[in-house]
Parts: sequence; structure tokens; C-alpha cells
Amino acid sequence: MQSHNSIGKGIHLTDDEFLKLSQFVYKHFGINLTESKRGLVHGRLQSVLRHHGMESFDEYYSAICKDPSGNLVSELINKLSTNFTYFYRESDHFEFMLNEALPFAEQYQSTLDNDLRIWCAGCSSGEEPYTLSMVMREYFGKKYNDWSAGLLATDISENALSTARAGIYTEDHLRKIPKGWGTRYFTKIENGQFQVASDVSSDIVFRRFNLMNETFPFKQKFHMIFCRNVMIYFDKETKDNLVRKYSELLVPGGYLFIGHSETISREIDSLNYVKPAIYRKVCP
Ligand SMILES: C[S@@+](CC[C@H](N)C(=O)[O-])C[C@H]1O[C@@H](n2cnc3c(N)ncnc32)[C@H](O)[C@@H]1O
Repeated sequence: MQSHNSIGKGIHLTDDEFLKLSQFVYKHFGINLTESKRGLVHGRLQSVLRHHGMESFDEYYSAICKDPSGNLVSELINKLSTNFTYFYRESDHFEFMLNEALPFAEQYQSTLDNDLRIWCAGCSSGEEPYTLSMVMREYFGKKYNDWSAGLLATDISENALSTARAGIYTEDHLRKIPKGWGTRYFTKIENGQFQVASDVSSDIVFRRFNLMNETFPFKQKFHMIFCRNVMIYFDKETKDNLVRKYSELLVPGGYLFIGHSETISREIDSLNYVKPAIYRKVCP
């Protein structure tokens, strides 16, 4: 007999429906919706079903599978992904970047073409890549414009990316930034909100990109990759595959930053542990 989950009122989510939806999300986005996430799935998707006038999760699942536009799938992932982030989150990474990773990248590139490439994978609403641009500006100072700094920021969620592109935040998102950054990199606008300075926002290319894609279409390697608090939702196999791809995409000596609550497998021997949540591509 089918059991029904009736957390809250409204449309029921059966075991079979939850299984189908979680398998779909795992297959397409690598996100592992375990039984403990059932309440979250149920709660967040009810309004979507109501909005589309659907009466069951089964009807919703069939519509997703048949939707050629992909809009229903985008909406699903927008609802299920957790976009929590803020400026200067996990600050020791930015101190490490200033003191170790940028001097390395500067030295590595000075014999080449002053081209410095950083990828922020799972950038959410933009606070992390904007922080990276600000750290680079702090490091290079007046020399910043001599560098062609390529900052690529990607996410699966179109909603998060449109917030990122707008670059407008409430004060709460800025609460951890270093002293002086508020006036240097932001303009206060109406309703107590802050807009990221236009030269900082023009540093960044925001793109929708699913980290579960088979191929990663990047021609050049990166000096740093940040993928923080994203793989937390992935199982070991998905995470290992992704970390191997990151490793291939780093220059020798390049750095991978992950979230502090995450670890990567010891089996990936092309990356050396540096300190918590920082790994370095081995040099041949
Ligand atoms: C909690 S946020 C982390 C934001 C930021 N990196 C930080 O540490 O503050 C996780 C982000 O990963 C994104 N994400 C989850 N699965 C993804 C996938 N398969 N491909 C690309 N982005 C994904 C989510 O949309 C979300 O914006």
C-alpha cells in the first residue's frame, strides 16, 4: 500500500512520487535528496503545483518529463537548491588567497601573458564571485588594470543568477566584509540596499552551467577554482567525478577551494591537501 506524506496541508506526496522526483533530481543535478529532505521537497513544491493547477505530484512529474522548453525543470531546481551565501563567507580562504594563491598566480603568469583565471562554480546570488573580485583589487591595487582577470561565475539556478547580475544586496549580506569595503566597492541606494560598484561587476561573467554536464567546455585552465558549499548535496561518486574534472582544469600548482564542512577523497592523488578546505594541483 502506498504511504502518504501529509506534512502540512495540501497535496500529498506518496513514496513512489518522492522516489521518482528524487531519482530525477539526482540524475540531472547530482543532488541527493535523501528521506530527510522529504519534508523540504514537499513543502517547497506545493506552491509550484498549485501555480500550475496540478492536483498530484505524479501529474507534476509527468509534466516535467514531457516539457520540451525545460522551464519546469528550471523551476524545480530553483525551488530545491539552497542558495544561502553572503559576502566574505569563510574569510580565511580570502586571506589565503591574498597571501598565497594570488602571489603564486602572479608569479606563474608574469612569464606568460598577465592573464589570471578564476572559476567560481556554484556562485549562487553572486556574493562569492564579487568578493573574489574585491580581493584581487585589494591585492593588485593600481596594477590591477595591467591584468586581464577572468572571473567566471556559474550556477544552475537562473533565479540566483539574475540576483547576481543585478548586484543589489541588503546590508545583512555585507555584514562580514572588511572595514572600508562598504564605501570602496558599494553604493548605497534606496531602501537601505547596496549596489556593487560597476567596475567590480564588469569583472565577472555570469553563466548558467550544470556541474553534472558530461563535458566542461573550457579551453584554458584556471589558477583557482572555488566550489564551496555546493558538493555538500552530492554523493561520493558524483563528488569524486567532479573533483577529478576540477583537477584537470587547474594549472599545475593551482588551488581548489571547497566549503569548510566538505572534504574530498584521498583517492584523488592529483590534488594535495594544503589546509582545511584548500587543495593544490600537484606539479608534474
Ligand atoms: C549554498 S549555495 C553556495 C554559494 C557559495 N558558493 C557559497 O559558498 O556561499 C549552493 C549553490 O550550488 C548550486 N548548485 C547546486 N547544484 C548544482 C549543479 N548541479 N550545478 C551548478 N550549480 C549547482 C545551487 O544552485 C546554489 O546556488
